[in-house]
Amino acid sequence: MKRLVLLLMTLSVCGAGGVWAADAIAQRRALMHDDGIAAKKLFDMSKGTIPFDLAVVQASLKTLANGAEKTPALFPDDSKTGGGTAALPAIWQNKPDFNARFTKFSKDVAEALAKINDEASFKAVAPKVFENCGGCHELYKAKSS
Ligand code: HEC
Repeated sequence: MKRLVLLLMTLSVCGAGGVWAADAIAQRRALMHDDGIAAKKLFDMSKGTIPFDLAVVQASLKTLANGAEKTPALFPDDSKTGGGTAALPAIWQNKPDFNARFTKFSKDVAEALAKINDEASFKAVAPKVFENCGGCHELYKAKSS
């Protein structure tokens, strides 16, 4: 028991940037989960399933911006497995590319926030934001079974 406590303490101290691996996995999954909810609203709106609403578009894009900013720091080396993670080992083999994709995602979301002011501009710009999701998942996220 004492040994376990010691091990846990060591782990929490050593976790990259002070983020404990299990926390990092839970946090990145929670941010991505919020991205999923925000993106679904945008997607349904772009299909016309729900009516266009600029305030909802902006709120959803802000959720994505928050995720794009915070998620990259949540992949420390000791968070490759566990916590039900779907992260693939390729992330740690191609960290520069993986991080660059988050930078591009951030940029596309910021651009969308700046450009979208009506339904027409929304329909023109939204697909650029969605491309980021599938492009990264294809390489770095295990397919859900
Ligand atoms: C640069 C890479 C990258 C981008 C961009 C990205 N994702 Fe992800 N996403 C991941 C990775 C990696 C995981 C797996 C995380 C884990 O399980 O630890 C993930 C997981 C998810 C999950 C599952 C969360 C859970 O419950 O475990 C959802 C939903 C999701 N992403 C939605 C999105 C949406 C929607 C977008 C675009 C708006 C997006 N992602 C953009 C890399 C990315």
